[in-house]
Amino acid sequence: MDRTLIKYALTNIPAGQAVTVAGWIRTTRHSKGGFSFLTINDGSCMASIQAVADGKLANYADELVHLSAGSSVVVTGALAESPAKGQTVEIQASEVRVLGASDAATYPIQPKRHSFEYLRTQAHLRPRTNTFGAVARVRSALSFAVHEFFQQRGFLYVHTPIITTSDCEGAGELFRVTAMDLADLPRDPAGNVDGEQDFFGRPTFLTVSGQLEGETYACALGNIYTFGPTFRAENSNTPRHLAEFWMVEPEMAFCDLAGDADLAEEFLKFLFRVVLERCGDDMKFFNDRIDKTVIETLEHVTDSPFERITYTEAIDILAAADRSWDYPPRWGADLQTEHERFLAEETFAKPVVITDYPAQIKPFYMRLSDDGKTAAAMDVIVPRIGEIIGGAQREERLDVLEAQMKAQNMAPDDYWWYLDLRRYGTVPHAGFGLGFERTVQFITGMVNIRDVIAYPRTPRSADF
Ligand code: 4AD
Ligand code: MG
Repeated sequence: MDRTLIKYALTNIPAGQAVTVAGWIRTTRHSKGGFSFLTINDGSCMASIQAVADGKLANYADELVHLSAGSSVVVTGALAESPAKGQTVEIQASEVRVLGASDAATYPIQPKRHSFEYLRTQAHLRPRTNTFGAVARVRSALSFAVHEFFQQRGFLYVHTPIITTSDCEGAGELFRVTAMDLADLPRDPAGNVDGEQDFFGRPTFLTVSGQLEGETYACALGNIYTFGPTFRAENSNTPRHLAEFWMVEPEMAFCDLAGDADLAEEFLKFLFRVVLERCGDDMKFFNDRIDKTVIETLEHVTDSPFERITYTEAIDILAAADRSWDYPPRWGADLQTEHERFLAEETFAKPVVITDYPAQIKPFYMRLSDDGKTAAAMDVIVPRIGEIIGGAQREERLDVLEAQMKAQNMAPDDYWWYLDLRRYGTVPHAGFGLGFERTVQFITGMVNIRDVIAYPRTPRSADF
């Protein structure tokens, strides 16, 4: 269909010119004087365009006067300067073709404000609302910017597997992948489920991270990144956790922790700047309707250096704070969201890179410091969200890595290929994982992570 996107009809085309637009009706006003105002949205931008349908149109009495929200239409007509407030142009329709009518009484997205909780039950129609249209456009712009950032810097995009046999984070939060008949599981002579008879001949899982495979490509090709879905069977019902989320994982050979932190800071600032530059109308909407500070925060964050502190310094700051904590800060325990938010919101009021965590609370692959107590770990925390990036310099010494694996009850033989990187031409290397949904949350001000992904998967919920 030869249609003009509404974003161009509203901005790029002079009044007087004829256009055809297609979309879904947001609101209708049928005037007694024998004409109708239809506002039409096609998702190309936040704004809808108004079409004026005259009573003289052939299908007016039979069809157009019955139109309601949710109907799909194709409208042709001349663009005219609009007398309506806030509208630049409207269409004086010479033809309104109804593709699919909608039933006003039952259409789940009524022209009024719905709660986000309700809209989650209508996830198939919620992209037709202003908020979810804007989230989808920002998400798309950000995805493109991820590739742009890395491609401009010569990083190769690597597709790591979704089905794996390893547990990168060692947290045991794995979804099992099986083709076995659950009602009739094959057993070995001892009576245990026989994984050898499964599709792959061994137990397999959905990946929690593409890092380990990413490292193998970095240790051959230099700088790489992945960008794909990851899965965690983590029973966390919070506004910041999903069971299926997207992660961006760069990995750099010949790089240490400081270089890793530099890349993380440059990357986040790039993403924030892109959104401010390219998603102006959507960001204005989030700033007006969702969180009055999002634009100011993004501008501030892109203009000032991130704070960098060690975990030990963080614990000292938290311990000295006049606060009652749910989890009192203690050296050796992981930082909780309440601690991360305190540091990013109150102490520094900007993103903070926290490095050198106790080795025993971090995964096996992080490089051990000389005193054996801390690992070359790095988290980037931001106001409102807490952790948005987790990363590390990797352990490149074979003997230390094997010892770390054994200390964490892992069988080094299972990871023989990962250890080969340390056997044959080992190099210092580092990388991180950016939680894509948490980034969208931070940028848009959306409070619940379930509202920044099209179809959220969370404990006890996999609708649609
Ligand atoms: O800190 P995480 O677990 O790090 C890794 O997986 C490393 N292998 C990454 C690497 O070094 N290549 O996860 C990275 C980020 C977190 O900082 C967080 O933003 C996000 O992924 N994340 C989640 N986002 C939504 N729901 C969850 N359940 C998440 N778990 C982690
Ligand atoms: Mg982490």
